[in-house]
Amino acid sequence: MITRNKGAEDVMPSESYIWQTVERAAANVAQLYGFSEIRFPTFEKTELFVRSVGETTDVVQKEMWTVKGRESTYTLRPEGTAGCMRAVLQNGLLNESMPQKVYYQISAFRHENVQKGRLWEFHQFGAEMVGAADPSADAEVIAFARELLDTLGLSEARLHINSIGCPECRRAYYDKLREYFAPYREQLCSTCQSRFDKNPMRIIDCKSPEDKAIAKDAPVITDYLCDECREHFDTLRSLLDGMGIAYEVDPRIVRGLDYYTRTVFEFISDSIGAQSTICGGGRYDGLISEMGGPQTPALGFAMGIERVILAMKAVGYDFGEPSVCDLYIASMGADESRRAAVIANSLRREGGFRVETELCGRGFKAQLKYANKIKAKYLLVIGQTELETGKASIKNMKTGEQTPVDLNSGFNDTFMNTYVADRVSAELPD
Ligand code: HAM
Repeated sequence: MITRNKGAEDVMPSESYIWQTVERAAANVAQLYGFSEIRFPTFEKTELFVRSVGETTDVVQKEMWTVKGRESTYTLRPEGTAGCMRAVLQNGLLNESMPQKVYYQISAFRHENVQKGRLWEFHQFGAEMVGAADPSADAEVIAFARELLDTLGLSEARLHINSIGCPECRRAYYDKLREYFAPYREQLCSTCQSRFDKNPMRIIDCKSPEDKAIAKDAPVITDYLCDECREHFDTLRSLLDGMGIAYEVDPRIVRGLDYYTRTVFEFISDSIGAQSTICGGGRYDGLISEMGGPQTPALGFAMGIERVILAMKAVGYDFGEPSVCDLYIASMGADESRRAAVIANSLRREGGFRVETELCGRGFKAQLKYANKIKAKYLLVIGQTELETGKASIKNMKTGEQTPVDLNSGFNDTFMNTYVADRVSAELPD
């Protein structure tokens, strides 16, 4: 048997309803904040990611899944922002009224060392806001992420924020970093040695434990912010304070992607081990112009769905039971099963109920066992007598109560009335 690759996961029907819970909540909260869904391809020209994510990042240097095609070299998206902005630009959304607010639920691919919460193929819920430069937009995007995590029972996730300034403030900061790292240059990993000249801030983000130890006391960007960037950050902080959104300023967050300017943030969950960042985002005011578009401010975030689900399980989120069957119709004999199929189709079409009939030729007892296994809410048995007389009963599988029905007249109405009445009485106190 050919098996699944490491770094990728199957989602079985017993788990997919958990994914749907997250996906639905995400789409609902996105609507509350006025975001609409956008879809874009799984792969792009490699150059798009090199230019936007940045050639000195781990993602571009080590983690991209790239194939040489006939006309170009293509890469499976390692994240959503670059492809999303390419689509926004190419489809003229920048000519519409601002801000444009879009969200996406995508798979993404990074060739990293596989571990819990770190996969080759993973999934993101992402949201991007284009055309708003004001710190109130940063506050709104962070509030959106916070609201979604709270909705998913993850109020425990801590928000860390920072400002990594603009290219102006970074010039002075890069000099300070080079000064700091110069004595350790030979000890850094080979990738970081090459980053020293081009982008010394990336050294702070290196995953190697040796480099991490060296970078521990490196200067922090917050000490080098220009007046405008500082003011932007201060205003964001007071807006978050005003909204009652708790945060910690963490001057060590630089993020692993090059397009960020000013605000960056991460949500950390303490319940899922080493890969604890469940959401990351920030402002990227230079990305759209870097791609050849007009200078346009933008910002957003993405959540790792696998990590979010791990965290939800860790905090004991109640996903409920996946309920898949309202009525199971057991039948014996060819005429009886034909009748069962007709009743099932009519009830599905007229009432929107989830109805199952026997399709595997099981014996009567085995059919009853199966009805229990799939947690059918009601059972209808059609045997020879029921078929001949038209008299049968629907059994509430939880209470055992039987309601008489006429198979030849008003079956759907009786079933619907019973279903509704049982639901109402189940909600009433004894
Ligand atoms: P990112 O921090 O690279 O940001 O990824 C966002 C989230 O995706 C992470 O916080 C993590 O939960 C999840 N994630 C990343 N890599 C993996 C992996 N190998 N396995 C499992 N989960 C993973 C971005 O991707 C930016 N595009 C976010 C953004 C949107 N910034 C502005 N707009």
